[in-house]
Amino acid sequence: MRMRKKKWARPEIESSNFFINNPIENRGKWHDYFENTAPIHLELGCGKGNFISKLAHKNKGINYIAIDMIDDMLGYACRKVKEEYGDKTIENVAILAYDIERILDVFDENDTIDRIYINFCNPWPRPKHRKRRLTHTRQLEKYKVFLADDGEIHFKTDDDGLYKDTLEYLQESGFEIIENIEDLEKANDTENIVTEHEQMFMNDGIKIKKIIAKKK
Ligand SMILES: C[S@@+](CC[C@H](N)C(=O)[O-])C[C@H]1O[C@@H](n2cnc3c(N)ncnc32)[C@H](O)[C@@H]1O
Repeated sequence: MRMRKKKWARPEIESSNFFINNPIENRGKWHDYFENTAPIHLELGCGKGNFISKLAHKNKGINYIAIDMIDDMLGYACRKVKEEYGDKTIENVAILAYDIERILDVFDENDTIDRIYINFCNPWPRPKHRKRRLTHTRQLEKYKVFLADDGEIHFKTDDDGLYKDTLEYLQESGFEIIENIEDLEKANDTENIVTEHEQMFMNDGIKIKKIIAKKK
């Protein structure tokens, strides 16, 4: 069933002072945007924002940028961040609307991003669509441009095919696999922040797979 478009989303996003309407303007200058030299972590395909809101609130010494291309998702993400922070000033979060396939319009090598989170991206199972995967080598080569040396990609998925292929894509692109977990629930990771999709898959008893890879 198609979700009805949320009319409130665009006005609400635009009235959020941590939403960046024209992110291209900050290309190469994201540290200046945050007005500090703290590390920057990026979430690609943030969806409704449970993950980024909780993570950023917990780690005030890190700057977080979350990207999605669907206004409705970003509307929920902005709400979530505001809810999580309550009366506190939101200084370490930026939310952007952009197509991640064109991520090099928004970041360049001067941005030195320390970590990228990719949670439950679309598995695009049909061979002719696989290039659209956010973990495909075509995308990884783009991320390498702005990922710091020793920078990490943290990836979670429910999908076995995407998980196996992502291990290959990462190695093909010269990343070192530093963690490879086939059942996150069993691994008992107390720091894990559950995303909206993760909760849905866990409710269905599907094992969550996680990979951490480092840029060599
Ligand atoms: C399956 S949802 C997962 C959302 C969230 N990470 C979670 O775990 O609940 C994938 C999200 O990625 C976004 N997305 C997919 N491809 C994208 C692209 N090329 N650029 C920006 N966002 C994208 C979608 O809009 C969607 O919100």
